[in-house]
Amino acid sequence: MSEIKKVNEFCFDETTEKILKELEKTRTDFWNLDRQSANFLNTLIKINNSKNVLEIGTSNGYSGIWILKALLETKGKLTTIEFWEKRQSVARNNFKTCCPDVEVEPKIGSAIVILEDLLDEINVGKREKFDFVFIDANKKEYISYFKLIDKMMTPNGIILADNILSHYEKVEDYVSNLFNNKNYQSQILELGTGMMLSRRNDG
Ligand SMILES: C[S@@+](CC[C@H](N)C(=O)[O-])C[C@H]1O[C@@H](n2cnc3c(N)ncnc32)[C@H](O)[C@@H]1O
Repeated sequence: MSEIKKVNEFCFDETTEKILKELEKTRTDFWNLDRQSANFLNTLIKINNSKNVLEIGTSNGYSGIWILKALLETKGKLTTIEFWEKRQSVARNNFKTCCPDVEVEPKIGSAIVILEDLLDEINVGKREKFDFVFIDANKKEYISYFKLIDKMMTPNGIILADNILSHYEKVEDYVSNLFNNKNYQSQILELGTGMMLSRRNDG
């Protein structure tokens, strides 16, 4: 029996699909999402009509392209954090080619330091809160990211975190904190390497 397809092979224009297919060939070197998880991320942003998305872990921009394609529809903006300048410069080129009309704010440096800066900017009214956060960087730091992100979320905001099942030991404190947090409704999805989907309960 032939393998069952789990996701569309073509979602976007020819240029974007060509770049996505190229990135999919080196996916394990750059720790990119698999196509099905990326498609889920894109669909979720559109369903939620999210407009101010934060990504922690840009890499070469594979997931970022899927986020930007959703933001093209919702007319939103992406802020994306990456430690490695070289990777983010590749991502910036990919974003320019695939989604020239969507605003991106790339941030280079340590995620925790940048999150603290973003929070300061929110607190002084220089920046809007985020309605969607995608966590995909240093697994041991997920819990520290959450403590900062929690203060930066709009009511009913969504957090999607990757590598939950593949790196369970490293993210266990993040998972238990979210499951015990009455302000969030959470579940782990057996998608790709395992994703935790959490929504703030603000009524
Ligand atoms: C799993 S990859 C991200 C993949 C990307 N989201 C995608 O699917 O295309 C994680 C990235 O986070 C970056 N990273 C890891 N720890 C970081 C930290 N503490 N601060 C900023 N970036 C970090 C790594 O350099 C790496 O490129």
